[in-house]
Amino acid sequence: MMLCGRRPLPDRCVMWSRHELSASHYAAVPVANESMSALGVSSPMNTANSKALVASDDFPASHRSAYLNTASVCLVYAGAEHATTAWFADLAEHGTSQFDEKAETAVFAGLHAAAAKLLNSRPTDIAAGSSATELIASIAWAVAPPQGSNIVAVEAVFPSTVYPWMRVATHTGAEMRWVGKGGGLVTDDDVIAAIDERTSVVALSHVEYRTGYRYDLGRLADAAHENGALLVVDASQSAGAITIDVSSNEVDALIVGSYKWLCGPFGAAFMYLDPALQATLEPGLVGFRSHRNMWDLEAQRIEFAQDATRFEFSTMAYGCAIGLATAIDYLLGVGVETIFEWNTSLADLLIDGLDQLGADVISPRSGSERTSIVAARFIGTDVDGLVHALDEAGVVASARIGALRFSPHLYNTTDDIDRALEVLRRTDKASG
Ligand SMILES: Cc1ncc(COP(=O)(O)O)c(C=O)c1O
Repeated sequence: MMLCGRRPLPDRCVMWSRHELSASHYAAVPVANESMSALGVSSPMNTANSKALVASDDFPASHRSAYLNTASVCLVYAGAEHATTAWFADLAEHGTSQFDEKAETAVFAGLHAAAAKLLNSRPTDIAAGSSATELIASIAWAVAPPQGSNIVAVEAVFPSTVYPWMRVATHTGAEMRWVGKGGGLVTDDDVIAAIDERTSVVALSHVEYRTGYRYDLGRLADAAHENGALLVVDASQSAGAITIDVSSNEVDALIVGSYKWLCGPFGAAFMYLDPALQATLEPGLVGFRSHRNMWDLEAQRIEFAQDATRFEFSTMAYGCAIGLATAIDYLLGVGVETIFEWNTSLADLLIDGLDQLGADVISPRSGSERTSIVAARFIGTDVDGLVHALDEAGVVASARIGALRFSPHLYNTTDDIDRALEVLRRTDKASG
C-alpha cells in the first residue's frame, strides 16, 4: 500500500491526464500515464493533503464542489468531453467530407472495443445505443415473454430497468412478478425465491440506485438458467465502479448507460448480448442500420447481423459514443478494482460519520453486497432541506425516497467527505 493523501491507497495509484483530440480520430482517444508525484493540484476543494485518485484536472468540475452525486449524473472525464465536442465541431466544419461511412463504422468499432475490454467480452458481443432505456426496450420486445410466463423484478428498482418489460407484459399478457420487502433491502435469496419454471426473464439492476445494494450476478444467472429463464441486467449503476466479467457470471444481456460511473456524456450506451442469443433474438427497435449490410438500402427486407450489432438500428450522437469509449479507456487505465477500493474507502468514512450523527444508514456496509452508494435516513428531518443545506455549502448529493444519498467516485477526496459531514453536523446542531 502507498499513502495518497490521508487514506491508504491500493498500490496501483496512477494518474491519468487529458489529451488533445485530433478531429480526424474517430476511435477512443488513448490516455497517457504520468507519475504519482504529479498528483495533487491544489484547489479550493482538493487541498495538498487530500487528493483524489486521479488528477483533479481530469475532472475540472471537481474543483468547484464536493460532488458526491455520481449515481445521478457523473462529472465527465475531461478527455471524453474534449473528444465529444471535437467531433461535433469537426462535423459542423466539414460535414461528410471527414465523417463518411468508414468514419461512422470506426466510431461504432471504437465503442465495441472499449466496452468489450471493460466487460471481458468480444467486440462482436456489444451493441452501441443512445441510452440504457432504449437498449432495454429493444431487448424486452425481442424477448416478448409470453402469456403464462412471468418476469421477475424488484419493486424498488429504477423505473427504466423495468418499464419496458411492463409495457411488453401488458401486450403479451405475461405476469410481472414483483419482489419487495416493504421498503427493506431485497437480497439475492429473495429474488431467487421468486423464480420458478414459468419465469422467462429476471430483469434487474446490478446495483440498486436508492441503496447501492449489489446483487450477485453469478448466483442469479444460475437460478435463472436452471429454470430456463434469461437474466437481463441493467449495469448503469455499477459499470465503471465495479468489475464486471461477463465471461464468468453468464448474464444473458447487460446494458450500461454512459453518464454515471463511466464518466461519459449523455447520449451513449451499450449492451452486451450473450453469443447464444445473437443469431436468434429479433430486436424490438429497427431502422436502416438493422440490416447486416445497411448501405445497400433495400427497404423490402431486413436480414439481421449474426452478432450483437443486430441491436444497432439508427444514427446516433456519434461524438457521445467517442466520448464514452474515451472515458472507458481512461477508467481501464486507472483500473476498476483500484477505483472500487478508493470509492468504498470514501464510503466507509461517510458511514462512520453518519453513524456518529445518529443517521439510519440503509445501504449495505460490507461484503459483496456493498458499493460506494451510501443512503441514510434522518428521523424527523426533511431530506430535501438537507440536500439544500449541502448544496449551499458546495456539496452535491441527492434525496431519494426519503433518504439522503451520497455516491463518491474516483474524483472525490476525503475533504469532500469531511465537508459533507461537517454540514450535516452543523445542520443537526442548528435543528436540535
Ligand atoms: C439503474 C438505472 N438504469 C437506467 C437509468 C436511466 O438510463 P438512461 O437515461 O440511459 O435511459 C438510470 C438513471 O438514473 C438508472 O439509475
